[in-house]
Amino acid sequence: MKNDLLLQALRGEATRRKPVWLMRQAGRILPQYRRLSERVGSFKTMVQTPDIACEVTLQPIEELDVDAAIIFSDILVIPEAMGLPYEMEKNKGPVFPATIGTAADVDRMIIAGEEGVDYTVKAIKLVKSALNNTIPLIGFAGAPWTIFAYMVEGSGSKTFTLSRSMLYNRPEMAHALLHKITQSTINYLKAQVSAGADVVQLFDTWAGILSPQLYTRFSMPYLQQICSALQPTPVIVFAKGAFFALSEIAQLSCAGMGLDWTISPKFARDMAGNNITLQGNLDPCVLYAELPFVQKATLQMLQDFGPNRHIVNLGHGVYPDTPLDAVKCFINTVKQYKI
Ligand code: CP3
Repeated sequence: MKNDLLLQALRGEATRRKPVWLMRQAGRILPQYRRLSERVGSFKTMVQTPDIACEVTLQPIEELDVDAAIIFSDILVIPEAMGLPYEMEKNKGPVFPATIGTAADVDRMIIAGEEGVDYTVKAIKLVKSALNNTIPLIGFAGAPWTIFAYMVEGSGSKTFTLSRSMLYNRPEMAHALLHKITQSTINYLKAQVSAGADVVQLFDTWAGILSPQLYTRFSMPYLQQICSALQPTPVIVFAKGAFFALSEIAQLSCAGMGLDWTISPKFARDMAGNNITLQGNLDPCVLYAELPFVQKATLQMLQDFGPNRHIVNLGHGVYPDTPLDAVKCFINTVKQYKI
């Protein structure tokens, strides 16, 4: 591969410079995405049409010259493939018209095979061929706990009362659903790897709303099952808000750990030890500042992580209204930085 900085960093090798990509790089920060999205008119159509998903995946490669592509899809394709369809409402986000509340609901969910998300698998093949071995392609899925939360709540939530209380009141039912999500996710990610994904990332977006005890019982075992099943493919686990679980996550069979911006690089390294690559973690809101400040904050972060085992990213997905020149300033600062 022409540029395999990302894979080198995940293997723990010294790199000539640090690799950089952005969570949510394929999306509304790019004018070409917004134009295409206007024309197509529906997010789900974009995700489900391999040609379009391929085009959107490649847009940030052309515009930003990042060191990895991430396949354009969504974490919610898994609940849909299990039998719980979602809708993407403009300016509101994802909504599930039906949700999981009873044991009968859990029984109705199927363990999805790769055919349930064949459109993403097809898109990966197209992207791989278009990339022509220039940079690695990242596949992804939601972590089981985060998918569980969407399936029970039906959308994002301020308190996550339904999903969290289910863990206390109906632990066996919760485990039964988490098991089905995990098996579906393993099938899906294995298909992504067979189609050409070089790395996979698990997004545990709602990790930070669980107590450490609940996280250990209801998220960690399922993350481990997925990481083990995918060996030897490098897996990156991004558990947002889970400062309390960093040392446990570092013990999973994963090559990398994503960090949100609330965690200092030193704290993360102390918790995680030296056998894992850290990814992150500039506050996405830094990119609303003047460019000299963006540069300064990025340099500080680069230094704080030290020379090795670091993949540069933001601490969460880039926000849709972020000025593009700040995004480019961030990327160029990383590329010019001498380790
Ligand atoms: O560039 C990439 O990172 C690849 C594509 C990608 C999308 N969603 C496309 C998308 C990825 C990796 C995701 C992951 C995802 N989806 C997560 C985990 C990461 C995170 O942000 O914590 C979550 C929680 C979702 C669920 C989801 N999808 C939400 C809450 C929303 C609405 C909020 C928003 O950003 O609009 C989406 C929609 C979505 N997924 C868009 C994109 C490009 C925007 C749709 C549009 O208006 O065009």
